Amino acid sequence: MGDTRILSEVIKKVYEKNITNKTGNVAQYIPELAKVDPEPFGIAVATVNKDIITVGDVEKKFTIQSISKTFIFGLALDLIGPEKVFQHVGAEPSGEAFNAIELDPVKNVPYNPMVNAGALSMSSLIYDKYGNSSEQVILDFFENLCGEKLSINQQVYESELNTAHRNRALAHLMNGAGIINGKVDEKVALYTKQCSIEINAKELAIMASTLANFGTNPYTGKSVFGPITARYILSVMFTCGMYDYAGRWAVDVGLPAKSGVSGGLMAVVNRQIGIGLYSPRLDNSGNSIRATKACVHLAEELGLHAFEFTNKGSSMLDFYI
Ligand code: DON
Repeated sequence: MGDTRILSEVIKKVYEKNITNKTGNVAQYIPELAKVDPEPFGIAVATVNKDIITVGDVEKKFTIQSISKTFIFGLALDLIGPEKVFQHVGAEPSGEAFNAIELDPVKNVPYNPMVNAGALSMSSLIYDKYGNSSEQVILDFFENLCGEKLSINQQVYESELNTAHRNRALAHLMNGAGIINGKVDEKVALYTKQCSIEINAKELAIMASTLANFGTNPYTGKSVFGPITARYILSVMFTCGMYDYAGRWAVDVGLPAKSGVSGGLMAVVNRQIGIGLYSPRLDNSGNSIRATKACVHLAEELGLHAFEFTNKGSSMLDFYI
């Protein structure tokens, strides 16, 4: 544990710079999400040395949504192995919206595990292996990622399942293409449950720090997935995590990241920190506006961009703590 005063000052400054930004709208296509309070804003940073720095509404719970895709890809890699996983998903950015109804026309698999098609394919592999126990396997995994007890938000789950027409269409498309092997309804339900797990920005930062720490939760010391899996996850996050904004994000922030439609966003500075943010108003790509802007500012202030000639991120704990 170190002296976090410099880092705290920067995070506070970035929070204050963005708190007045009220642009964008909360997600509308899931009725329960359309009702959420748009105002909360929280930023949490968790270091691999177990320091946690927070500002704003970091205890406010929200559903993990697409951020779960990142970790479920990792879980599938660890439990099922890369060979089989990459027969069921690609690793190419799609350049399309997260819920686009499409497969890679050359390989006939979903473009990547960050878009809905690819995530459904990963949940399907887990269901094929664990059947009715899959929900518990997934919940235990997320609890280990953040070292806290978690639960599913039943209202969001039901609301999303009742309106999951596009995800059902995708799952049926993949069933027809031989990527999903039957039990379509059960698999869409499992995927929707994984998206409805409730977390807060602090827990998200710890999950991200587990990625920064190559799969070992720095706070509990527990190995949650292997280092090679961390490499796969971070690479796909870097190229595909922000959907059709992924390219511009790479230019502006230069860190692997993943967003969710409830307004969560996590970013990772390899070997150093995990960042968890929450603010529900979204842009047209489904990314939180305040959280995105806050990451741009954090990257600028702290020199986090991986390819910046003034990069400090890769050894930032030596600089700032
Ligand atoms: O399947 C869906 O549409 C949602 N459960 C998750 C989408 C999502 O979070 C996209 N992210 N920005």
